[in-house]
Amino acid sequence: MSNSTDELFKNVIAHAKEYGFVFPSSEIYDGLSAVYDYGQNGAELKNNLKTYWWKAMVQMNDNIVGIDSAIFMHPKIWKASGHVDGFSDPMIDNKDSNKRYRADQLLEDQIAKYDVEGKTDLAEELQLEMDNALKADNLPRLKELIIQHKILCPLSKTANWTDVRQFNLMFSTQMGAVTEDSDVIYLRPETAQGIFVNYLNVQKSGRMKIPFGIAQIGKAFRNEVIARQFIIRMREFEQMEMQFFVRPGTQAEWFDKWKQARLNWHLALGTDLNKYRFHEHTKLAHYADAAFDIEFDFPFGFKEVEGIHSRTDFDLSQHQKFSGKKLQYFDPELDENGKPYGNYVPYVIETSIGLDRMFLLTMINAFEEEDLSTEEKQDSRTVLRLHPCLAPVKAAIFPLTKKDGLPEKAREIMDNLKTDFNLQYEEKDAIGKRYRRQDAIGTPFCITVDHQTLEDNTVTIRYRDTMQQERVAADDLQKIIGDMVSW
Ligand code: GAP
Repeated sequence: MSNSTDELFKNVIAHAKEYGFVFPSSEIYDGLSAVYDYGQNGAELKNNLKTYWWKAMVQMNDNIVGIDSAIFMHPKIWKASGHVDGFSDPMIDNKDSNKRYRADQLLEDQIAKYDVEGKTDLAEELQLEMDNALKADNLPRLKELIIQHKILCPLSKTANWTDVRQFNLMFSTQMGAVTEDSDVIYLRPETAQGIFVNYLNVQKSGRMKIPFGIAQIGKAFRNEVIARQFIIRMREFEQMEMQFFVRPGTQAEWFDKWKQARLNWHLALGTDLNKYRFHEHTKLAHYADAAFDIEFDFPFGFKEVEGIHSRTDFDLSQHQKFSGKKLQYFDPELDENGKPYGNYVPYVIETSIGLDRMFLLTMINAFEEEDLSTEEKQDSRTVLRLHPCLAPVKAAIFPLTKKDGLPEKAREIMDNLKTDFNLQYEEKDAIGKRYRRQDAIGTPFCITVDHQTLEDNTVTIRYRDTMQQERVAADDLQKIIGDMVSW
């Protein structure tokens, strides 16, 4: 990370805390690693991102419906999905510091170090060796590479390593009052399985015809060993996932459609296309026949925000096998030979976006430290240029002074608007200072009530992006704000 991007990232993190977007969890107890809380403005922004996604996926597509499945699920589900046996990272412990590391991460850090030192041959060779070892699940080979490349523990600076072992990323707990009688259950590591196990319920109760989709937003939990980069890698996070059920053989076509549709969803927020790129997975998960990530150019480099996966019929077939229940679809339509397609297990295209990563992307993209200096004086402001639909507060209402009936008039205007928009009332400090506070949380409009308002019911409206002000009728505010902030 260069100095300026490092600085930008640090400033965004500090800004997120100072202005009530994101706080470290349990902060008064010194925090809990890789867990974060969303503050008063963060919760609003997060809700607006969810609404944007839900509207685009569920409301705008009459063949997609949304559900909200439970976090706790039958333990067999995770056996069927492959998570009990395969959802793990290769870990290695340093015996001197007692610190645990992801073996592949230690190697990746070494590759990055070689790259910085200009040792590209070594970097390429190590990358290849590591990829081969990971592909073959060859854990001893990963350790050999760590020793061979003289990788030291970042804490103890020694190479006194244990063997590499697989470490499952699922959190487990017990269900039932008495420990001896209880079953181990898992906190879901993805929301997708809640969709798969409800496939038949939704298809039948909604009389859904293929192709159709099921969407859901919800928490997921992963015992990530390395917590890095703020809310990019968390132990408790939120996903927005959609499983699109299609006729076998049509998955490639649907995969391309969803890949483009999801990129368009990102771009519709006004983000520069150059900030995004697709990354194709060359190492496919056992269930997938194609997978692309949508990556965003964060200050620390391009990182995955969303995955689009062609999951074949793997999940439904597995649940069919493990539950003993038929999870099929009867397709009455006719093929090219005039025969009905009949019964089959549908194929699935999945779109899966991390809400917290989308949140960070949005903050970074919107954050600007704008120089407003003129020849006469130095000036600057921090402004969050959020899309108005995403802004936590849509408009702030300011009485010019705290007397002469202005607060009462401002409250009256606010009461007329607050059923439609999230508003903030502020009467403290000079107007300029109040503007700056609203700029910092991304409020698109500031409305000032002054003495003229009492005479002719007009107010000044000040626009966040241009800082221009104009006088408008208070009765027109509903339309002016509504036109900008409605989806
Ligand atoms: N159902 C497919 C699935 O869960 P994934 O690539 O493991 O796929 C999907 O996760 C998205 O969830 C990622 O693109 C990322 O945005 C987000 N995500 C995954 N792990 C995360 C973590 N530990 N913290 C925050 N977001 C995470």
